[in-house]
Amino acid sequence: MTDTTPAADRSAELRNRTVEELKQAGTIVSPRVEAILRMVPRETFAPEVDLEAVYEPWNGLVTKKDAAGRALSSLSAPDAQAHMLEQARIEPGMNVLEIGSGGMNAAYLSEMVGPDGRVTTVDIDEFVTDRASRFLGQAGYSKVNVVLADAEHGVPDFAPYDRILVTVGAWDIPPAWIDQLVEGGLLVVPLKVQGLMRTVALAREGDRLVSESARLFGFVPMQGAGAHDSTELKLRDGVTLVFDEQPPADAETLAGVLDFEPLVVDSGAGLRLGEPWATMQMWLATTVPGFCRIMVDRMANEASDRPLGGGYTGMAAVDGTNLAYAATRDLGDRELALEVHAYGPDPAALANQVAAQLAIWDRDHRGGPGPQYLIYPAATPEAELPAADLAVAKRHARVLISWPQPTGDDSQDTLHHPNHQ
Ligand SMILES: C[S@@+](CC[C@H](N)C(=O)[O-])C[C@H]1O[C@@H](n2cnc3c(N)ncnc32)[C@H](O)[C@@H]1O
Repeated sequence: MTDTTPAADRSAELRNRTVEELKQAGTIVSPRVEAILRMVPRETFAPEVDLEAVYEPWNGLVTKKDAAGRALSSLSAPDAQAHMLEQARIEPGMNVLEIGSGGMNAAYLSEMVGPDGRVTTVDIDEFVTDRASRFLGQAGYSKVNVVLADAEHGVPDFAPYDRILVTVGAWDIPPAWIDQLVEGGLLVVPLKVQGLMRTVALAREGDRLVSESARLFGFVPMQGAGAHDSTELKLRDGVTLVFDEQPPADAETLAGVLDFEPLVVDSGAGLRLGEPWATMQMWLATTVPGFCRIMVDRMANEASDRPLGGGYTGMAAVDGTNLAYAATRDLGDRELALEVHAYGPDPAALANQVAAQLAIWDRDHRGGPGPQYLIYPAATPEAELPAADLAVAKRHARVLISWPQPTGDDSQDTLHHPNHQ
């Protein structure tokens, strides 16, 4: 029976509004994803949360935190869920595994695969699987298999899958995720490389995976066997460097680096306010040796007698004794210059290297599709790996990242700001 209460009317209204916003943003592109997001109520899967908040297009809702207050589980934002559904290109009748449960996304997946398909959702946390089972039952999706397990090993009982959607931040691709995927099947996974998480859709080709698309999204971190900690290096109160793969062997040589006078180098590259810069971050991460992230606490920085200058980008690099970070400078008229601030006894070479890569990104890759990811098993002999711009050795996988060749078309959307013609 259709619910005709005022609350149900409001829910339908909010659903339609969210869908309109996601269509406008280019997240929802297919009629099926649109129809399903218009149809399935979200509030069943977060009954403790205010109705309006459940439909905020870009907000995930934390449903469980650890003792330190970090999010362990959440109802992912409509934007992230819709985009992953689009990336996964799910057809009726498919067999789909979702890693990381909650119920909401499994309900969308059930609608996508229809009565002839099958959905399995796995979570490491009993609190989450209990909730998911309860909510899915209440919403009429009791056919979904809800499994309590560490997804490091997949869910062999219902494999092979046409699609595996990972809804938790991964640092690696364990072998089970490839083995349990049919040939040509898709794995959609928020994968962290060099500290930068991108939700990547990867197609299985034999033992390897080849990316089709990637987009910037944040997800709560993987727990269990696949958990991975970054290395943090605190330079002073409110300024920390984060190394996601290899921390520098000589980290202690950077102590006191911020006591040097900064060298500021103008890259000649720029951004427009609000322009996506995910490919800029990735370009630096794949081309600058010693790449790391820099976290700056704004309040502590402003309180410092030697505050770091420039607008925050979070991108940095180190070379033994020197540090350089990319920063923005407001040029007015919604335009930003990209410059490099460098510290240390001899920072010019590193500063110029980062600036040169910013300029190349601006010339060749700004507004472009971003890089391609190839995933190989870690044991693949070196001679069998194709050439790549960056090769990262994870525990189980070799991640190769390559950029498309520039088209050589000078007419592309490049901003050269006035001081640097
Ligand atoms: C963002 S939530 C999932 C959101 C959900 N798909 C939804 O419908 O909104 C991420 C989940 O991944 C789970 N998780 C973390 N590590 C895991 C692991 N190794 N295996 C299975 N689940 C894991 C967490 O317990 C958490 O519930």
